Amino acid sequence: MKILVSAGPTREKIDPVRFLSNASSGKMGYAIAAEAARRNHEVVLISGPVALPTPEKVRRIDVGSAAEMFAAVAAEFPSCDCLIMAAAVADYRVAMPSAEKLKKLPGELVLKLERTTDILFEMGKRKKAGQTLVGFAAESADLLHYAQEKLARKNLDWIAANLLSDGFGTDDNRIVLISRDGSQVKLGPAPKAEIARQMLDAIL
Ligand code: CTP
Repeated sequence: MKILVSAGPTREKIDPVRFLSNASSGKMGYAIAAEAARRNHEVVLISGPVALPTPEKVRRIDVGSAAEMFAAVAAEFPSCDCLIMAAAVADYRVAMPSAEKLKKLPGELVLKLERTTDILFEMGKRKKAGQTLVGFAAESADLLHYAQEKLARKNLDWIAANLLSDGFGTDDNRIVLISRDGSQVKLGPAPKAEIARQMLDAIL
């Protein structure tokens, strides 16, 4: 099968040297890509900026912004059997990034933000029979309620829900994997490589 995985944060430019981003390490997505390649699937990894080596036998496409990630995912999605969106895609970008480096001025600076495209939602609309779509939901409260809402709204087959209280950038993870038909599988707490194995066992 051809498995498409996204991982890491995106960077939304404020000016040529500054950006908005988040604390995603990319470790979960990279572990999934590595495990899928180990199982001899064709793996394409669309990665935001992270400090991780490319897993063996994985084709990696580096992107910066949510818009770049959207373009890369949209190009690969039609030919893939399964898309796993583990990336922490920015929900907002700076409405008018400055072409010049901003100079500080007295008083406040107000940045106007606008919504980015929800990549999973768009792929959910484009999904064909036989394609499997997997999302992640990191929540700080009402984990299962919000995760199930995202699963339905984005037309997903699976959603991997985790509590943000477990922290970002850690090597271990704990996930509830929820399927479209409502079944729930608890994974971990375990190293992300083990979570990746259990996730692919369930999904593929
Ligand atoms: N996602 C995406 N495109 C975006 C934002 C998120 O594809 N622009 C994907 C992520 O890769 C992840 C899932 O959607 O798989 C997360 O859902 P999202 O609704 O973005 O969750 P939150 O960012 O937590 O947003 P909310 O405020 O709705 O909880």
